[in-house]
Amino acid sequence: MNDAVPANDLDAALWPSGVRRGDDGALVVAGVDVREIARTHGTPAYVLDEADFRARARTYREAFTKAFAAIGTGVDVYYAGKAFLSVAVARWAHEEGLRVDTATGGELAVALRAGVPGADIGLHGNNKSDSELARALDAGVGRIIVDSLTEIDRLADAVRDRADGRRAPVMVRVTTGVHAGGHEYIATAHEDQKFGLSLAGGQAAAGLRAVLARPELELRGIHSHIGSQILDPDGFLEAARKLLALRAELASQTGHLVPEVDLGGGYGIAYLPGEVPIEPGRVAKDLAGVVAEVCAALGTPVPRISIEPGRAIVGPTTFTLYEVGTVKPVTVDGTPPFTRTYVSVDGGMSDNLRPALYDARYTAVLASRTGSAATIQARVVGKHCESGDIVVHDVLLPADVVRGDLLAVPATGAYGRSMASNYNHVPRPPVLAVRDGEHRILIRRETEADLQALDLG
Ligand code: LLP
Repeated sequence: MNDAVPANDLDAALWPSGVRRGDDGALVVAGVDVREIARTHGTPAYVLDEADFRARARTYREAFTKAFAAIGTGVDVYYAGKAFLSVAVARWAHEEGLRVDTATGGELAVALRAGVPGADIGLHGNNKSDSELARALDAGVGRIIVDSLTEIDRLADAVRDRADGRRAPVMVRVTTGVHAGGHEYIATAHEDQKFGLSLAGGQAAAGLRAVLARPELELRGIHSHIGSQILDPDGFLEAARKLLALRAELASQTGHLVPEVDLGGGYGIAYLPGEVPIEPGRVAKDLAGVVAEVCAALGTPVPRISIEPGRAIVGPTTFTLYEVGTVKPVTVDGTPPFTRTYVSVDGGMSDNLRPALYDARYTAVLASRTGSAATIQARVVGKHCESGDIVVHDVLLPADVVRGDLLAVPATGAYGRSMASNYNHVPRPPVLAVRDGEHRILIRRETEADLQALDLG
């Protein structure tokens, strides 16, 4: 294999821990050659390293548990299933000591089917339906995170009408006004957006009092999620300060000290070579320091803490394996030379919407072999009828890339399959798990027949 060619390198921060190049240069993941994966399951495919998923889940749990034990409190880590949820993944998360955060009835159903006890599941949503609230109550979920004043009443009424005597455990989602995250669409705690009850104007405090006023509800905590793909931890610290101040204010006004504070998810990962992901041990320690300091200053005991990482657990565990089709050199401004090469793959914006939606950047490597020393300025594009169907905007690929090569795009585990679509009637790819030299299907590939079955003619 050709070690000396940078385009063949694998930046460890981007790839699952089980990935390396084999003796002949092809990618091997957890002992499985990607050519075997492609032969067996076809492409495109999401390839997920199970041991890496479990390790990342443990790392978050252990880092936060340790940091908060040092200030005398406990932590619950909820895996945010919206990033990617399947029965197996929910089970792994739970086996590694995580709980599961769901955002819809559909995600709740997957977590329950995985055998996660209701008590270890949280339900979010800014517009939960009556049926979603009922299903959460049926399942005995550990927390329903209420997101509006009307929802508080709707939920309390639903509990009253059930007459099983069980109160609903509730957290109130608070908008802290802290703006953080990778893109406007994924920042969630600034004021002009749909989530939560605002600190401004006392709306959040009113929500908390409204929960306390309803005997059907048990106020378990205050919740804030400030955004996603956050690489600067200051936003988390700022939000924590605001939530703790709100908690102290509520205690002084009502005598009720909220036992738990949830600081949400949003921990950023590396997508491009050289990017530095959030370091869980570091951010946990900083957060614990702020929580201890603010609680001491306010004269309130330290609450139990929870967090909801999604991307940071699953994002780097998975790469997408594509097969190269058309390779076409283009001129960038209409006059030769042909300086950019468009490398088309057999998927695209239907399996990774993030470049089109957020202008997200990825990288890619030749996966079925290593390439020659010469590189070309490449753009990896999909097969959809849209020029914005870009998988990787700019990447140096070996100049000898040809039709039939396999290409791998790392860090596609979060919000890849979970946001995939059937645009152009393209069936969604499978999710394959690899572990100890074995590969298996977690979610099978859709077929055209699956899609046709929905169409009643
Ligand atoms: N908790 C709550 C309440 C959330 O709304 C989210 C994400 C999370 C936890 C998990 O955030 P994470 O740790 O994964 O950043 N589709 C976008 C991301 C949307 C995130 C929505 N909420 C993307 O592809 O970047």
